[in-house]
Amino acid sequence: MAELVIHQIEYAFREAIRRAYGMDISPLVTPATNERFGDYQANVAMSLAKELSSGGTTRTTPREVAQKIAENLHLGAMAEDISIAGPGFINVTLSPTFVAERLTQMASDERLLVPLARQRERVVVDYSGPNIAKQMHVGHLRSTIIGDAISRVIEFLGHEVIRQNHVGDWGTQFGMLIAYLEETNMSAETHIEDLEEFYRAAKARFDADPAFQEKARQTVVRLQSGADKERKLWQRIVEETRRHYLPIYERLGVRLTVADERGESFYNDMLPNVVEELRNTGLAVESDGAIVVFTSSYDNPLIIQKSDGGYLYATTDLAAIRYRVAVLKASRIIYTHDSRQSQHFAQVFEVARRVGWAKGVKLEFAPFGTMLGEDGKPFKTRSGNTVKLKDLLDEAEERAYSLVSEKNPALPEETKRRIARAVGIGAVKYADLSKDRLSDYVFSWDKMLALEGNTAPYLQYAYARIRSIFRKGGISELPNIRIELTEEAELRLGKHLIRLGEAIENVCSELKPHLLCSYLYELATRFTGFYEKCPVLQAPEPIRSQRLALADLTARSIALGLELLGIEHPEQM
Ligand code: ARG
Repeated sequence: MAELVIHQIEYAFREAIRRAYGMDISPLVTPATNERFGDYQANVAMSLAKELSSGGTTRTTPREVAQKIAENLHLGAMAEDISIAGPGFINVTLSPTFVAERLTQMASDERLLVPLARQRERVVVDYSGPNIAKQMHVGHLRSTIIGDAISRVIEFLGHEVIRQNHVGDWGTQFGMLIAYLEETNMSAETHIEDLEEFYRAAKARFDADPAFQEKARQTVVRLQSGADKERKLWQRIVEETRRHYLPIYERLGVRLTVADERGESFYNDMLPNVVEELRNTGLAVESDGAIVVFTSSYDNPLIIQKSDGGYLYATTDLAAIRYRVAVLKASRIIYTHDSRQSQHFAQVFEVARRVGWAKGVKLEFAPFGTMLGEDGKPFKTRSGNTVKLKDLLDEAEERAYSLVSEKNPALPEETKRRIARAVGIGAVKYADLSKDRLSDYVFSWDKMLALEGNTAPYLQYAYARIRSIFRKGGISELPNIRIELTEEAELRLGKHLIRLGEAIENVCSELKPHLLCSYLYELATRFTGFYEKCPVLQAPEPIRSQRLALADLTARSIALGLELLGIEHPEQM
């Protein structure tokens, strides 16, 4: 399988440095910061010159180093131009024939030349994690959307992904709720809203009534020791909550099933041993009656057992890491959750490493910021309540329906509904995925549903438009032809097309789906530029077929990109 272009260039530079200086170091290759200078650049000359000058008696400048590396660089037919700019950047411009050759290969490859990872890993992705007896909130929405996209990308690169839905289904609050339900009775009509109401009532009672407090405590003990009646009620609560979130996953097109659920309760039996091992190694100590572990960057220690013997969120996460490494055999564990949990995960990771439960395993927290309303405050309904996800998705589909009906009134009702679903849900997901996850983002219906700009509808429309070219031309299959690039607009499109794999690989390493979104947006924009300048169906052969091939590659790349983001791409819009 052909390697990514950027890696081929990296390799050639590495060899050049070896030849020139006998050193094996990273050439620091990046895409060119400015298209005018070329396509890729190596930034190593600056640091290498410094290193060479500091060691010996001879002084050398970055430009001299760059010159020497460039002289030793063998890129063959790949490069049209190699030049040195500024203090010592080495710029590489790809040759149009190389780009065209690469595109020809890409057209006949099912994976669009996106290579499979050389080293296949087993990766656990921990995402979504709603809490039982509560409705999912927008924070869970972000986790679900981002975690799912990351999982798809990693899987596509050939790794094995184990999705883990760490639902909050355990803890003292269940004692309260069950004790309350024992009196109230849960019927078949009890829905998630009722459970939330019961929970509020139970909490009020707990705070006011010492006898109820005692009862709740005993209930937790009975639940945790597996008493039949309590277990059954708990099970009902869990099932009722599933009835709420499974349909949301389904509507979102998120690949989480009941089989991926490993809730907090799953680790319950392992908790005493977690604490015991941490005590035996001397990492955990007693502090004010509780068992805690002090970590390096925070004043507050990580509490793993309360003075009343109860375990905490952190204890469960430690057990989960141990399980994921020892039993699931993961070599990489990724968590996509709210950045407010940064300290929690930093401390849990440190403890797991120090006790030796994550030897050689990458533990990665991929946090995200808060979803804000257009007023810049955390996203709420107009009346100030938390937004129910179901309502949010309903509204997305409704708004998209108006959009589709306006654009294409003649479509059959059923088709309109189907497109509205793809566009509406896609818009919500894409709005989230297209922003750097680290920043807070403003939820805006108008922006996310716009047909212009970096939005799902824009990309979906770009895809549908290309497909309509093929429909109009009555073309169902493309001949195997050699692509050639003559027009500037073709070359600009082609150069971006061959970078698809780079974008996908970056999502896998940086865990940032917006890198793929930016790639797709740029692709659609370049396609527009190409389509405005270069007639396709009207062009004479063989140019017509070559341009159709470029259009087809664009459509396939958008389709693959959207699929990896978990977003549909209707054939028409
Ligand atoms: N239930 C948690 C919450 O709502 C999210 C779970 C995150 N996963 C984990 N392994 N701690 O905040």
